[in-house]
Amino acid sequence: MLDLSRFVADCRAALAEPVPQVAVREIVARSVARAAEVEAALGTPREGGLFALHCSADLTILNVVWTPGMAIYPHDHRMWAVIGLYGGREDNTFYRRGPHGLVEAGGKRLEGTETALLGEAVIHAVTNPLREFTGAIHVYGGDFFATPRSEWSPDTLVERPFDLERARRVYAEANDRWRAAESMRARPA
Ligand SMILES: [Fe+2]
Repeated sequence: MLDLSRFVADCRAALAEPVPQVAVREIVARSVARAAEVEAALGTPREGGLFALHCSADLTILNVVWTPGMAIYPHDHRMWAVIGLYGGREDNTFYRRGPHGLVEAGGKRLEGTETALLGEAVIHAVTNPLREFTGAIHVYGGDFFATPRSEWSPDTLVERPFDLERARRVYAEANDRWRAAESMRARPA
């Protein structure tokens, strides 16, 4: 089983490296390569959400679980981020700021036990296109919850302050939809 306190300590130690995000990516990649051990430590994903494993001014570690079919609108982090999957798939769409608002700028599909390093200027939207949960460890080089940053309305792509409660509602609504669909499937024909 992944030793979570050791994992946190290793990531904290990596902050002293010349390029912390590269060292953190190596730690995350090594850990998620043993996906079953990560799942044993964090539990089999059954509900989407952002679950904090560690939070301090210079480092946040989250267990992020994406509900089947869910999507989150574009947002930035204003700090580097390392993403490591231990199951499922996470489709990233990247954006850049244009003269008339956000412009799409490519994408990246992560699946299996892949990892990605996102720079601090990255703006992305994320979708889980699968009919199964996606489990990931996200490590951020700052305080994910307290740092002021932006999100963009999914309909108008208008920039507004990032609202954590709104993001949590997206997870809750996706969980409700998934549970309703599950109970429909479980009902005898
Ligand atoms: Fe993000």
